Amino acid sequence: MQVLKTKAAFRAARAGFGDLGFAPTMGFLHEGHLSLMRRAKTENGAAAASIFVNPTQFAPGADFDRYPRALERDLAMLEGAGIDLVFTPDAAEMYPDGFDASIHIGGVSEGLEGAARPSHFDGVATVVSKLFNIVQPTRAYFGQKDAQQAAVINKLVRDLDIPVQIVIADTVREADGLAMSSRNSYLDPAHRQAASVLYRAITAAKALFEAGERDAAILRAAALRILASEPLAQTDYVSIADPHTLRELDAVGPQGALISLAVQIGPARLIDNLLVG
Ligand code: PAF
Repeated sequence: MQVLKTKAAFRAARAGFGDLGFAPTMGFLHEGHLSLMRRAKTENGAAAASIFVNPTQFAPGADFDRYPRALERDLAMLEGAGIDLVFTPDAAEMYPDGFDASIHIGGVSEGLEGAARPSHFDGVATVVSKLFNIVQPTRAYFGQKDAQQAAVINKLVRDLDIPVQIVIADTVREADGLAMSSRNSYLDPAHRQAASVLYRAITAAKALFEAGERDAAILRAAALRILASEPLAQTDYVSIADPHTLRELDAVGPQGALISLAVQIGPARLIDNLLVG
């Protein structure tokens, strides 16, 4: 496994490979990331990862400084997953003096996380575009847990004709349903236990859908009722949205729905989602 800190060194190493799977990350890897890595390797023969805590996708005062970092541990995990190339730039390598570009993807980036975290998806779209240009992957792998990010990236490659195939992989969960996330490390034991309420809330809405309910207000209310039963949870939103446009629905039609939510549990703002229909 080659670990490369500069764009020039990465490009030179990449030239030695043909098809390449790529999973960009912000590090502090967990089983969810590793499932992307293994898929990237199996489906392409060779695989690359990046580890870069991207400052431009954090709002001022958000958790950029305390975002967990564990580079040596991450590299050992990537080696174990059979990754060939790892790109570990610093901020000056990605954003040298004079850097002044931003990519805005309209529509799908506006509601939900985009409403709660203005300019977050501009930061994501810009850094992912740069990473695609540097890494030149055949396929790139992202998790369904960040459903809106997945929609933004799909639109980014479509709108800008970026020649990469996007693969969205299923969310990997803990035994109690909590979606794996680097931010789960912010939770103390009481908050960790409370955090299972997110999965219980989305599965309650899903169960109602599967029983035949199509009224989005009733599905939202079912999830909100579960969230209200957990005193340590402060709900930001519960959304029943069109899975392609991410616009809120009044009723779920043949296109199905993305059931998603964002909840503050003590120090961590957590998100989760399920697709239905
Ligand atoms: O999902 C993430 O970890 C980040 O948003 C990404 C895609 C690596 C861009 O910084």
